[in-house]
Amino acid sequence: MPDSQHKLPLLPPNVYSIEDAGKPRLATVNMAPGTRVYGERVVNNNGIEFRLWSPHRSKLAAMIEKGMAIPVASNSRILYLGAASGTTASHLSDMVTGGMVFAVEFAPRVMRDLIGVCSQRQNMVPILADATRPALYRAIAGQVDLIYQDVAQRDQAGIAIVNARECLKPGGHLIMVIKARSVDSTANPKQVFKQELEKLYEEFEVIDKKGLEPFHRDHMALVAQRKNHKQLAFEDTNCL
Ligand SMILES: C[S@@+](CC[C@H](N)C(=O)[O-])C[C@H]1O[C@@H](n2cnc3c(N)ncnc32)[C@H](O)[C@@H]1O
Repeated sequence: MPDSQHKLPLLPPNVYSIEDAGKPRLATVNMAPGTRVYGERVVNNNGIEFRLWSPHRSKLAAMIEKGMAIPVASNSRILYLGAASGTTASHLSDMVTGGMVFAVEFAPRVMRDLIGVCSQRQNMVPILADATRPALYRAIAGQVDLIYQDVAQRDQAGIAIVNARECLKPGGHLIMVIKARSVDSTANPKQVFKQELEKLYEEFEVIDKKGLEPFHRDHMALVAQRKNHKQLAFEDTNCL
């Protein structure tokens, strides 16, 4: 293992806590050495290139800093909704060296940058599509282990549910970032979080949730697991 960094037990694959200027900082092992995605700092250690990962720039990094367990394995297939120009999606790509990240984004301007990022990474596929219409990309993404959703839309829970029904394995996971101001700019953020969580229970069991302060204001992140509807239906039949 390289000097002056260590892997904590809760960290996902290829995520490290590196000592930098006397402070521990999150970093991922760069899957495309020699390239950067958004001007992030890069540190070389014993021949391994690490990309520093700021919780102020990425809500997923903030979740890790806040001690949330992230359900990602090195071979996970991930459907990323709202990839923008690939900041966080590229760190997920660093993690899933034997998996895939399908990065959905509907804004053509950021899509151009995202395509550039994906062209440097063999496990990242850009998809120009509206995340409210998963039937359009189901054939590309197939069944995934995890949906990561950060779309800043009004119906965030509804978008997670339709994507889970099309693309998420039974028992698969959801990471969702709820931006209270995007759902309702006038309502109390706590009320917005409660309302979105209640909608999610139809399809998911929520495992963990946390506010992302001090890194991101009025944002809540949650980790949930899809209920196994097939199994429920079978048990119901047995009861008749
Ligand atoms: C907060 S930004 C995402 C930042 C990104 N997740 C990161 O951490 O690097 C939200 C993104 O979602 C995209 N978006 C919003 N609604 C969408 C939709 N219905 N379908 C696809 N992308 C959408 C926006 O264009 C924007 O780029």
